[in-house]
Amino acid sequence: MTTTVVEHIGLLVTNTELGELTDAHVVFDGESVIAIGTGDAPAADERIDAAGCCVIPGFVDSHTHLVFAGDRAAEFAARMAGAPYAAGGIATSIEATRAAGDDELTALAAARLAEARHAGITTVEIKSGYGATTEHEARQLRVAEALTPETTFLGAHVVPPEFAGRADDYVALVTGEMLAACAPHARWIDAFCEVGAFDADQCRAVLAAGGAAGLGMRLHANQLGPGPGVQLAVELGCASADHCTYLTDDDVAALASSATVATFLPATDFSTRQPYPDARRVVDAGATVALATNCNPGSSYTTSMSFVIALAVRDLHMTAAEALTAATLGGAQALRRDDVGWLGPGSRADLVLLDAASYTHLVYRPGVPLIRRTFVGGRMS
Ligand code: NIG
Repeated sequence: MTTTVVEHIGLLVTNTELGELTDAHVVFDGESVIAIGTGDAPAADERIDAAGCCVIPGFVDSHTHLVFAGDRAAEFAARMAGAPYAAGGIATSIEATRAAGDDELTALAAARLAEARHAGITTVEIKSGYGATTEHEARQLRVAEALTPETTFLGAHVVPPEFAGRADDYVALVTGEMLAACAPHARWIDAFCEVGAFDADQCRAVLAAGGAAGLGMRLHANQLGPGPGVQLAVELGCASADHCTYLTDDDVAALASSATVATFLPATDFSTRQPYPDARRVVDAGATVALATNCNPGSSYTTSMSFVIALAVRDLHMTAAEALTAATLGGAQALRRDDVGWLGPGSRADLVLLDAASYTHLVYRPGVPLIRRTFVGGRMS
């Protein structure tokens, strides 16, 4: 195996008890980190000079919908002119995704993953949800599983047009034949708990069926208004409750006393002109929080975790350190992964070299491309 050392790191974020190190180095052997330290770096087959710049763990993006066709720029423009965001827009992407050929869908998703790698994302979760038939949901997941092990079956994204007025019949399809076809390609199950999508009972049925099929559970919760989603996610032991834009005191208390990660998706609130969540209250209550891009064609068409971090600091009132932790270690916790989101002996060699002396620049210099190099499993990506 070839050993590599990244040396002369001005600031190294470990997300371990070692905290942040100055004048540091990281050594990896193949896919794994074997040493970190300060001062003179040890011998290695390959040396990379960080020239005083900052190195962080790779971003762990725990919520995306990267497999889709078509775009909804017109819907976005209408929103910026005052139209509200509604769950129903998902149907537009279902139509375009169903119409795309296999090769086209694969190429579109791979290009978005390449864009995400460029943006420093080293672990990515990808959901289905733009198929809404057994055949098309399974196809989306087959495309996704070629790109990541973190695949999520989201058959319960929206009730498709052919089931209009028959949501319970659609839920029966999702929990029956569709789940059977999709479970072999998925690690997780998810549902969209929202007015215009699925109610708490329907989401409970979907997640319970997925759990019985061996899938881990996560839930879209409290995105467009207050609702039962967060409480349901906690009650069912979901790995994460995602969005959390509208939270009551009881929701915050429930998250704080559970292992369910509160995942904020502030690029969504930006793109839908929603209010931003009160992340400060959730962090201060002691809940575990994550940040993710929610890259999708409707509510958040970005792969920029740097942008998400900037929003989290500027508008969710997190510190830069809290936001970085949430975009790395928090994402790993939301995916129940203990090999990513941190740097030290035994972690995956997933790291990002910034073109800046400190990660604070991700916020201080918004919109500037500061990701110089991304290493995924020790390989430059
Ligand atoms: O997480 N909320 C549900 N799903 C996506 C939006 C999908 C869309 O509008 O196409 C989200 O924001």
